[in-house]
Amino acid sequence: MERTLAIIKPDAVERGFTGKIFDRIEGNGLKIIALKMIHLTKKEAEGFYKVHAQRPFFPGLTTYMSSETVVIAVLEGKDAIKKWRDLMGATNPKDAAAGTIRKDFAVDIEKNSVHGSDSPESASYEISYFFSSIEIFSHKRTKT
Ligand code: CDP
Ligand code: MG
Repeated sequence: MERTLAIIKPDAVERGFTGKIFDRIEGNGLKIIALKMIHLTKKEAEGFYKVHAQRPFFPGLTTYMSSETVVIAVLEGKDAIKKWRDLMGATNPKDAAAGTIRKDFAVDIEKNSVHGSDSPESASYEISYFFSSIEIFSHKRTKT
Protein backbone atom coordinates (compact mmCIF):
# COMPACT_ATOMS: atom_id res chain seq x y z
CA MET A 1 0.00 0.00 0.00
CA GLU A 2 1.25 3.42 -0.99
CA ARG A 3 -0.05 6.97 -0.55
CA THR A 4 0.02 9.95 -2.87
CA LEU A 5 -1.28 13.51 -2.89
CA ALA A 6 -3.88 14.54 -5.45
CA ILE A 7 -5.07 18.08 -6.15
CA ILE A 8 -8.04 18.95 -8.31
CA LYS A 9 -6.86 22.31 -9.63
CA PRO A 10 -8.95 25.51 -9.98
CA ASP A 11 -9.84 24.97 -13.65
CA ALA A 12 -11.43 21.58 -12.91
CA VAL A 13 -13.18 22.66 -9.69
CA GLU A 14 -14.63 25.75 -11.40
CA ARG A 15 -15.95 23.76 -14.35
CA GLY A 16 -17.58 21.13 -12.14
CA PHE A 17 -15.34 18.14 -12.83
CA THR A 18 -14.64 17.20 -9.20
CA GLY A 19 -17.15 14.34 -9.17
CA LYS A 20 -15.99 12.96 -12.50
CA ILE A 21 -12.38 12.98 -11.27
CA PHE A 22 -13.38 11.26 -7.99
CA ASP A 23 -15.10 8.62 -10.13
CA ARG A 24 -11.86 7.87 -11.94
CA ILE A 25 -9.96 7.68 -8.66
CA GLU A 26 -12.44 5.36 -6.95
CA GLY A 27 -13.13 3.38 -10.12
CA ASN A 28 -9.47 2.49 -10.51
CA GLY A 29 -8.60 0.95 -7.18
CA LEU A 30 -7.55 4.08 -5.31
CA LYS A 31 -9.12 5.09 -2.01
CA ILE A 32 -9.65 8.65 -0.83
CA ILE A 33 -8.34 8.59 2.76
CA ALA A 34 -8.19 12.37 3.39
CA LEU A 35 -9.99 15.27 1.77
CA LYS A 36 -10.33 19.04 1.97
CA MET A 37 -11.30 22.05 -0.12
CA ILE A 38 -9.14 25.13 0.36
CA HIS A 39 -8.27 28.44 -1.25
CA LEU A 40 -4.47 28.62 -1.16
CA THR A 41 -2.70 31.89 -0.56
CA LYS A 42 0.02 32.78 -3.05
CA LYS A 43 2.62 32.01 -0.34
CA GLU A 44 1.08 28.58 0.35
CA ALA A 45 1.14 27.78 -3.38
CA GLU A 46 4.78 28.89 -3.55
CA GLY A 47 5.68 26.64 -0.62
CA PHE A 48 3.95 23.67 -2.17
CA TYR A 49 5.72 24.12 -5.53
CA LYS A 50 9.09 25.23 -4.09
CA VAL A 51 11.00 22.63 -6.19
CA HIS A 52 9.94 24.66 -9.23
CA ALA A 53 10.92 28.07 -7.77
CA GLN A 54 13.55 28.74 -10.45
CA ARG A 55 11.38 27.64 -13.38
CA PRO A 56 9.95 30.27 -15.75
CA PHE A 57 6.39 29.01 -15.20
CA PHE A 58 6.58 29.37 -11.37
CA PRO A 59 5.01 32.87 -11.02
CA GLY A 60 2.12 32.01 -13.33
CA LEU A 61 1.59 28.59 -11.79
CA THR A 62 1.45 29.90 -8.22
CA THR A 63 -0.86 32.79 -9.18
CA TYR A 64 -3.15 30.31 -10.92
CA MET A 65 -3.11 27.81 -8.04
CA SER A 66 -4.08 30.56 -5.59
CA SER A 67 -6.76 32.06 -7.87
CA GLU A 68 -9.67 29.86 -6.79
CA THR A 69 -10.48 26.92 -4.53
CA VAL A 70 -8.84 23.54 -4.98
CA VAL A 71 -9.79 20.08 -3.74
CA ILE A 72 -6.95 18.18 -2.08
CA ALA A 73 -6.95 14.47 -1.30
CA VAL A 74 -4.67 11.72 -0.06
CA LEU A 75 -5.07 8.58 -2.16
CA GLU A 76 -4.09 5.11 -1.01
CA GLY A 77 -3.63 1.91 -2.99
CA LYS A 78 -1.14 -0.46 -4.55
CA ASP A 79 1.42 1.61 -6.52
CA ALA A 80 -0.76 4.66 -5.83
CA ILE A 81 1.85 7.19 -7.02
CA LYS A 82 2.26 5.65 -10.48
CA LYS A 83 -1.39 4.66 -10.76
CA TRP A 84 -2.58 8.22 -10.10
CA ARG A 85 0.00 9.71 -12.51
CA ASP A 86 -1.11 7.24 -15.18
CA LEU A 87 -4.74 8.29 -14.67
CA MET A 88 -3.71 11.99 -14.85
CA GLY A 89 -1.76 11.75 -18.12
CA ALA A 90 1.10 13.90 -19.41
CA THR A 91 1.67 17.43 -18.04
CA ASN A 92 0.76 18.98 -21.40
CA PRO A 93 -2.73 17.85 -22.39
CA LYS A 94 -1.59 17.93 -26.02
CA ASP A 95 0.72 15.01 -25.20
CA ALA A 96 -1.68 13.19 -22.86
CA ALA A 97 -2.91 9.73 -23.85
CA ALA A 98 -6.55 9.10 -24.71
CA GLY A 99 -8.69 8.38 -21.69
CA THR A 100 -6.51 10.29 -19.22
CA ILE A 101 -7.91 13.09 -17.06
CA ARG A 102 -5.69 15.74 -18.61
CA LYS A 103 -6.61 14.65 -22.14
CA ASP A 104 -10.30 14.78 -21.29
CA PHE A 105 -10.50 17.86 -19.04
CA ALA A 106 -7.36 20.04 -19.11
CA VAL A 107 -7.39 23.52 -20.63
CA ASP A 108 -3.66 23.89 -21.34
CA ILE A 109 -0.23 22.98 -19.92
CA GLU A 110 -0.77 25.25 -16.88
CA LYS A 111 -4.48 24.73 -16.28
CA ASN A 112 -4.11 20.97 -16.48
CA SER A 113 -6.83 20.00 -13.99
CA VAL A 114 -4.91 17.76 -11.58
CA HIS A 115 -1.71 17.35 -9.57
CA GLY A 116 -0.08 14.12 -8.42
CA SER A 117 3.07 13.45 -6.39
CA ASP A 118 5.93 12.12 -8.51
CA SER A 119 7.92 10.05 -5.96
CA PRO A 120 7.63 8.62 -2.44
CA GLU A 121 9.71 11.57 -1.17
CA SER A 122 7.47 14.19 -2.79
CA ALA A 123 4.33 12.32 -1.65
CA SER A 124 5.56 12.42 1.92
CA TYR A 125 6.37 16.17 1.74
CA GLU A 126 3.13 17.04 -0.05
CA ILE A 127 0.81 15.00 2.20
CA SER A 128 2.29 16.54 5.33
CA TYR A 129 2.08 20.02 3.73
CA PHE A 130 -1.73 19.81 3.82
CA PHE A 131 -2.77 17.12 6.31
CA SER A 132 -1.93 16.21 9.88
CA SER A 133 -1.96 12.53 10.89
CA ILE A 134 -5.40 12.77 12.54
CA GLU A 135 -6.92 14.00 9.26
CA ILE A 136 -5.89 10.85 7.36
CA PHE A 137 -8.21 7.84 7.53
CA SER A 138 -6.52 4.66 6.39
CA HIS A 139 -9.19 2.11 5.48
CA LYS A 140 -9.15 -1.60 6.04
CA ARG A 141 -8.45 -3.43 2.85
CA THR A 142 -11.64 -4.58 1.16
CA LYS A 143 -12.28 -7.39 -1.28
CA THR A 144 -12.23 -6.33 -4.93
O1 CDP B 1 2.18 18.32 -12.68
P1 CDP B 1 3.34 17.58 -13.31
O2 CDP B 1 4.15 16.80 -12.31
O3 CDP B 1 2.89 16.73 -14.48
O4 CDP B 1 4.29 18.69 -13.97
P2 CDP B 1 5.51 19.53 -13.32
O5 CDP B 1 6.62 19.54 -14.32
O6 CDP B 1 5.82 19.05 -11.95
O7 CDP B 1 4.93 21.01 -13.27
C1 CDP B 1 4.04 21.40 -12.23
C2 CDP B 1 2.91 22.18 -12.84
O8 CDP B 1 3.43 23.40 -13.39
C3 CDP B 1 2.20 21.53 -14.03
O9 CDP B 1 1.24 20.57 -13.67
C4 CDP B 1 1.56 22.74 -14.70
O10 CDP B 1 0.38 23.16 -14.02
C5 CDP B 1 2.65 23.80 -14.51
N1 CDP B 1 3.53 23.93 -15.69
C6 CDP B 1 3.37 25.03 -16.53
O11 CDP B 1 2.52 25.88 -16.29
N2 CDP B 1 4.19 25.16 -17.63
C7 CDP B 1 5.13 24.25 -17.90
N3 CDP B 1 5.92 24.40 -18.98
C8 CDP B 1 5.31 23.13 -17.06
C9 CDP B 1 4.48 23.01 -15.95
MG1 MG C 1 5.26 17.51 -10.72
